[in-house]
Amino acid sequence: MASPGRYVPRPRRSLLRRIAFIFVAAVVITALALSLSAYFITKAAQDNEALDKALSQSRFNLFLADSMLPPQPEDADYDRLIDAFKIRGDFGTLVEAGNQTYVSGPNVNLTLVTPELAQKVAAGHIGYQNITTSGEPQLVVGGQVQSRELTIYFLYPQGQRLADLARLRNILLITGAILTVLGAIVGYLLARALVTPIRRASKAAAQMSQGDLGIRLPVRSDEFGVLASSFNTMAGNLQSKMLDLEAGQARERRFVADVAHELRTPVAALVGEASLLKTKLASDPAAASSEVNHLVTMVTSDITRLRQLVDDLLEISRLEAQSVEAVMEPVDLSSFLNQLVQARDWSAGVRLSIPNRIPAVRADRRRVERIIVNLVENALQHGSAPVTIEAAFDWNRSGGEPSQAARVQVTVTDTGPGIPAEHLPHVFDRFYKADPSRASSRGSGLGLAIARENARLLGGDISAGNAPGGGARFVFTLPVLQS
Ligand SMILES: Nc1ncnc2c1ncn2[C@@H]1O[C@H](COP(=O)(O)OP(=O)(O)O)[C@@H](O)[C@H]1O
Ligand SMILES: [Mg+2]
Repeated sequence: MASPGRYVPRPRRSLLRRIAFIFVAAVVITALALSLSAYFITKAAQDNEALDKALSQSRFNLFLADSMLPPQPEDADYDRLIDAFKIRGDFGTLVEAGNQTYVSGPNVNLTLVTPELAQKVAAGHIGYQNITTSGEPQLVVGGQVQSRELTIYFLYPQGQRLADLARLRNILLITGAILTVLGAIVGYLLARALVTPIRRASKAAAQMSQGDLGIRLPVRSDEFGVLASSFNTMAGNLQSKMLDLEAGQARERRFVADVAHELRTPVAALVGEASLLKTKLASDPAAASSEVNHLVTMVTSDITRLRQLVDDLLEISRLEAQSVEAVMEPVDLSSFLNQLVQARDWSAGVRLSIPNRIPAVRADRRRVERIIVNLVENALQHGSAPVTIEAAFDWNRSGGEPSQAARVQVTVTDTGPGIPAEHLPHVFDRFYKADPSRASSRGSGLGLAIARENARLLGGDISAGNAPGGGARFVFTLPVLQS
């Protein structure tokens, strides 16, 4: 069934990463747009407000200057005016009266007034200009007192206001960064919540494709839940169909085994009766040359084949139902095969080639014999003598030390016509005969199927091929005995 090392292919592009990335991008763009617009709207509003305030204060100051100064003002009058302005607010003052200038402090002088501003003011307007002197940003507003040939400039410091704006900008930046981090975390969690059921489903599907039909998905109350419950229904149906199928196959195998079992007794009786009949006929000279004798010979041979078929059927159905157990024991292949060749009287047609140093195998003697006999009889029947039985063990591949996976190879090669390539994949199928029309095809076609089932029962296998010089070659492997 399901193999332990399940392979679930990793997607080349991760959905999780993509969803998280899209989410973070959306958060960053939103945070950026909100912060920038909040900052610029606030800045524009503040700039306007500061300018309006400066302009209206300057207008009032100009009016105040006109009403405070006497008709012919002296230096002291101008100084008094500047002192009065100092009380009104935190701004610098520069008074230009004819060729004289009066200032409110040492940092205030005419170089702060740009030619453009001076020109505008000279034309009778109220003008303003943003400047920065020694690191301090200031708004300069200037105007004339019309009736007196007097020009006054007021310098409003902007440092505090701009510092407040800068603080606002920093707060927005930090908030944006925090939002981005939060967005990344939320985005990752969201993406994971979305992707986890998809991953679970694809893993389950992969497991199912490898034969694990018992797999089920947790059912939640969302769209994934619908998918999961459909998947579970599908898996359930498939599983019950498979169980039905397996039960059907088991019934079929049991039926074949039962039939074969039931046929065995009457067929054995028939074999005995036929040979008795043959013996009787042989002692009756009248019948010796008659057609009856010929018929009896045919009946005897057919019944013998029938018995072989019944035995084979019974064996294959038991093997496939896995209702047989192997009696595993250490087997020394060299002496085992030598004894087998002598007992079967194969010495004339079969050559053994077994190296001295071959590890013992762990196997069931009776079943190994069954396999070898099957292969050699096939070689003699479908191929031709001489037949070679070779045993080999790859010491290099096993690193000099027979391991769990190490196998001894037993090869049976004949010198017949070999097996056509198109038949090779099928020779182990039940009832398969490569050439049923040949006289040699008197077997049931079950021999190789039984041999392979036996080999697998012992933890080995058999494969079919052809020798380079023609002739069929069967390779039969057996696990090495673990010391
Ligand atoms: N050594 C061989 N040389 C050529 N053909 C072979 C050989 N062994 C098996 N085959 C082919 O494989 C078929 C299946 O073999 P097997 O299962 O033993 O059935 P059976 O011997 O009863 O025909 C044979 O009918 C034969 O066509
Ligand atoms: Mg055979």
